[in-house]
Amino acid sequence: MNKEENSKENESLAIEAHGMVKKFGNYMAVNGVDLKVPVGSIYGLVGPNGAGKTTIINMLATLTQANDGTIKIFNYDVKKENNIVRQLIGLTGQFASIDENLSAIENLMIFGKLHGLSGGEAKKRAYELLEEFNLTEHKKKSVEKFSGGMRRRLDLAVSLISEPPLIFLDEPTTGLDPRTRAQLWKTIRKLVEKGSTILLTTQYLDEADQLADRIMLIDHGQVVIDGTPDQLKDSIGAESLQFTVRNIEKVNEAMKIVEKILGVEVQQVEDSNVTAPMTQIDKLVDILNELNKANIHLSDVHIQKPTLDDVFMTLTAESIKNVPGEK
Ligand SMILES: Nc1ncnc2c1ncn2[C@@H]1O[C@H](COP(=O)(O)OP(=O)(O)OP(=O)(O)O)[C@@H](O)[C@H]1O
Ligand SMILES: [Mg+2]
Repeated sequence: MNKEENSKENESLAIEAHGMVKKFGNYMAVNGVDLKVPVGSIYGLVGPNGAGKTTIINMLATLTQANDGTIKIFNYDVKKENNIVRQLIGLTGQFASIDENLSAIENLMIFGKLHGLSGGEAKKRAYELLEEFNLTEHKKKSVEKFSGGMRRRLDLAVSLISEPPLIFLDEPTTGLDPRTRAQLWKTIRKLVEKGSTILLTTQYLDEADQLADRIMLIDHGQVVIDGTPDQLKDSIGAESLQFTVRNIEKVNEAMKIVEKILGVEVQQVEDSNVTAPMTQIDKLVDILNELNKANIHLSDVHIQKPTLDDVFMTLTAESIKNVPGEK
């Protein structure tokens, strides 16, 4: 074992789960998932609707029992030591847990005290969070009068009141406006700087790309792939060359030239936009030279790495045929 592997082995884990299984009746919602999340990291769980993300979080957060497998949170077993585990985690569910009849500040104070803060501490933290989530001016309004985004912000604030070492965020930014979303990213990074570990699910893959150190893509209750955002992108292969031919009549000729140089199939995306997979980036010079010789001019050319959206679309393509969750 080399030094790097050795240090990885010793890395302390906030979550270590092996072979997690959850069945609902005969339906395998989660089917043998392994998950290792190092302390102090941000881990993204992504996948189509019904893939099993919330179910995994519920098992990790002791809200539902796994049918099989082992789960350790900071080395505590979720089955045998669930009382300790509960003190180490915070959870923001996909659906809000706040009390509608109370005001924002009352909700925050109650949750603060429930988490063992003194009255003074709870108040201090509540005011900090109201400020962080732009809710200060609404602190006395009862939650039933909140807009959807305001409720979401309060729900997040509530789950962060005790700054727990491990935080589960199930689609934290769904329904948030862009500014609040960016604000939440900052809050998440700040929590990690202070030592928390985050497991989040999201349907926004740019968000996972921005925030997560590692990402797991799951589908039909199973792991499709996991790794760093770059590893996931690399997994679906080459970069792509994309260019726009200035004179639309020359598109076919341009495509033939590129096909000859790259030895791959080139596609016309629309009118004069062309794309081709590209493994050898230095061939770009040859392409530009040959096009120039043929008097073909481009109005735009770039080489693009696959995005996480491409990864999602490529690796979960089967789900489009088999609607997730249906048997
Ligand atoms: N309490 C339950 N009883 C029966 N089936 C359930 C239950 N909870 C979840 N399921 C099923 O398990 C599967 C996984 O659901 P889960 O909520 O974990 O998906 P998800 O990945 O979080 O999806 P989404 O992106 O829509 O939130 C789905 O097919 C769902 O219908
Ligand atoms: Mg879910």
